[in-house]
Amino acid sequence: MVTHLYFLCSFVSVVLAEEFTITIFNYATANMVVKINSTFLILNTESKIQCAEKCTSNSKCWSVSYSSNGECRLCDRGWNSLCTICEKEIGAVLYSKEDEDPCINGGRLDQDNACICLDGYAGTNCETLISDCTNGKTFPYYNGNDGILYIKPSASPTPIPVYCSLTQLRARTYIQRHYEPGFGFNQTWDSYRDGFGDMLTTAKDFWLGNVHTHYITNSGFYTLVFEMGNQDKSEVYQQEYEGFVLNDETSKFSFGLDSDPTTTLSGQPTLGNCLSYVESGIFSTYDKDNSLKCAHIHGSGWWFGYTANCGYCNPNGVLIQSTNDQRTGVDYEVFWEENMKDWSPWYVEMWLELR
Ligand SMILES: *[C@@H]1O[C@H](CO)[C@@H](O)[C@H](O)[C@H]1NC(C)=O
Ligand SMILES: *[C@@H]1O[C@H](CO)[C@@H](O)[C@H](O)[C@H]1NC(C)=O
Repeated sequence: MVTHLYFLCSFVSVVLAEEFTITIFNYATANMVVKINSTFLILNTESKIQCAEKCTSNSKCWSVSYSSNGECRLCDRGWNSLCTICEKEIGAVLYSKEDEDPCINGGRLDQDNACICLDGYAGTNCETLISDCTNGKTFPYYNGNDGILYIKPSASPTPIPVYCSLTQLRARTYIQRHYEPGFGFNQTWDSYRDGFGDMLTTAKDFWLGNVHTHYITNSGFYTLVFEMGNQDKSEVYQQEYEGFVLNDETSKFSFGLDSDPTTTLSGQPTLGNCLSYVESGIFSTYDKDNSLKCAHIHGSGWWFGYTANCGYCNPNGVLIQSTNDQRTGVDYEVFWEENMKDWSPWYVEMWLELR
């Protein structure tokens, strides 16, 4: 199945040739979810040869396409790089520096003749994908950056695009980020399974997807970290859970933990416990509510308990962002009861760290 991705990309570059965009594939639903553009310059040239020359003499240019109306497109990735498209018409592919380079998948040689890879690729010739964000930190061309990388966890049949933060001491693989009060996390079972939101663009409000988190957490020993903070992040609280494992959809995405919550490695004050009270708790959404209507009551997808009070936190609820940082008392707001009581955060983040 790993070849799926490469297949997809070649599929896209042949069939979806309408506009030099790249399309990232949502593996779970077989939907095209986003397009990115590798064309950085469009010129008019008199011939294909002239177009190729423009690319040869431009250090940023890595491949080029020329269409019959004289349009010459310079692209900053090679043909084989992950889902990159730079052609206007079928057969318009003209020239790619990749053909002359030992680095594949969009990588290019640096001055020391080593490959600088892109998009999560690594290895001498950029031939493999990193296994997770922590693995990405070992490569200087990824370390120190935040952004989307493709990872290939051992348990996953396909590569997964994830938002990695490699500017931190320990790499973060985000499974949730929640910043906009207006962004709705009251979504369906299928949306929570496959992922939703703006991860591939602004990465402010998204859910990576339970199926992806399942594969990642079954490929290593991960700590799940929650973070909530106030508007200017002068108050930041965290909570860590070691050995977080998400089971598959047939298990209704129930989770397991290795231990009760631990003190945070970062030294931030803690939110208190929530997950241990619902351990082995299954996931619920309003359209597949495996709890006592808790997903409906709290307006979010979450691991709610079976008891009538629906558990002690609601990180996927609505952000109230009140000026006094106090809860308003509505059922659908974000809350975390144990240490935080009536406090109401301005943002929520959830990420995985390999330990
Ligand atoms: C891709 O980028 C080029 C250069 O910035 C631009 O001219 C072109 O319209 C873009 N294509 C799309 C589909 O956005
Ligand atoms: C969540 O969405 C469902 C379906 O649209 C709706 O019935 C429910 O009232 C919503 N809950 C909240 C708290 O918005």
